[in-house]
Amino acid sequence: DGTKIADLVLPATREVQMRVLSDPEIYELEMERIFGKIWNFLGHESEIPNSGDFVVRDMGSDQVIISRDKAGEVHVMLNVCPHRGMRVSVLDGGNTQIHKCIYHGWAFRPNGDFIGAPVEKECMHGKMMCKEELGLKKARVTLYGGLIFATWNIEGPSFEDFLGDAKWYYDMLFKRSDRGLEVLGPPQRFVVRANWKAAGEQSAADGFHTLTLHRWLGEVGNYAKKNEDGTSADLSPEMYGVEISSPHGHALRCIDLARKISRLTGLDPKELSVQQKLDALPPAGMHKDMVEQLARNLSPEQLQVLTTMPPQVGGIFPNVLFGFVYIPQPDGSVLGSLTLHAYVPRGPDKLEFVNWILAEKDAPQELRERILKQTIQLFGTSGMVEQDDSDTWPHITLSAKGAMGKKQTLKYQAVYETGAPEGWPGPGMVNEGFTKDDTQWHWWMYWRELMTSEV
Ligand code: FES
Repeated sequence: DGTKIADLVLPATREVQMRVLSDPEIYELEMERIFGKIWNFLGHESEIPNSGDFVVRDMGSDQVIISRDKAGEVHVMLNVCPHRGMRVSVLDGGNTQIHKCIYHGWAFRPNGDFIGAPVEKECMHGKMMCKEELGLKKARVTLYGGLIFATWNIEGPSFEDFLGDAKWYYDMLFKRSDRGLEVLGPPQRFVVRANWKAAGEQSAADGFHTLTLHRWLGEVGNYAKKNEDGTSADLSPEMYGVEISSPHGHALRCIDLARKISRLTGLDPKELSVQQKLDALPPAGMHKDMVEQLARNLSPEQLQVLTTMPPQVGGIFPNVLFGFVYIPQPDGSVLGSLTLHAYVPRGPDKLEFVNWILAEKDAPQELRERILKQTIQLFGTSGMVEQDDSDTWPHITLSAKGAMGKKQTLKYQAVYETGAPEGWPGPGMVNEGFTKDDTQWHWWMYWRELMTSEV
């Protein structure tokens, strides 16, 4: 309707035009300018441990095959046969050394190279292209702590450049242990009738909604213990900490460990050494016997953050959320829950919610089983927390479809730029205090930057 793309996000007043959450043309442009260019999260390499293992996933509006070859390398290829465009794999995953198209039988290796076709001599007589040119379209791939990312932007920024300062913090979650993380089974998947950005911008460390949408967490004592007289826990102290924004839209919320220790264990953190704090509340998902691995894998400065303001919830632009959350247990112990979501776009008003549950490879079996059970109960398809979230996103999307609703704006007013706490050793745009809109506002600013860039 003549509105410039740049005017969909208004920096002067920190507003976003609501129509971005429903407009089909904007959605199509996002597929090209965002998902067609950035590093897309697709899964975890532990999903395809053996030669020939593969899974099929969505990379923006395209389907891709993620497979491991005989040399152990992970490849991501467009699931489109170069012959007549059929999907080469019509499965969700499996194991094969030959991906054979069911239409006319062209065959491809797990790295996407063309092998051959049936009755090749007859059918390819007079062919114009050599075998090297007949393979599947290959994406550029990187592995980060076992997480698989891929991009069609072959000459674009490296994944490290894309993460930028956020990497220093994310290493504390994904690269903290000797052997790293792995998935506990295939991801849960379900469709939500909502625009992907309703979920995506929440993944940019929106902490504020916990106080109202997830209020029951305090009422049942499943986030902070109830008060001694049995009344509900006040969750607002949980909202204090440090938030890290990124010029590339990544976001992280770190929670004050001292508050966590006193609220979850009843111990006085002022009386505890760093080691005693780690023993009292090991990083979420780590067994206490693994804590000694931290010093081998992280710098002293990262350890300082981990033992004062540990990262808890955050996102990787544009559609990934991770949570390394402490959950009090009925027996008085505390369990860590490790969850990783992708909100995969499936149309202007539809997303697929994909939920991976993680565990440390070195965690004892009993702990892995408890993490799996706890995380399923709280996060994902049947999870109590995400039932709340996935109820709001469709309403927001419907609001953005209304003749009047689409003319309204989203208002990001709580941008304070309070700055980092004194002595903060980490890089990046850091703000302390009560949870705010800073991280989400930077998410939208990067969305605007990508959407207005034609390169
Ligand atoms: Fe795949 Fe013809 S479309 S072999």
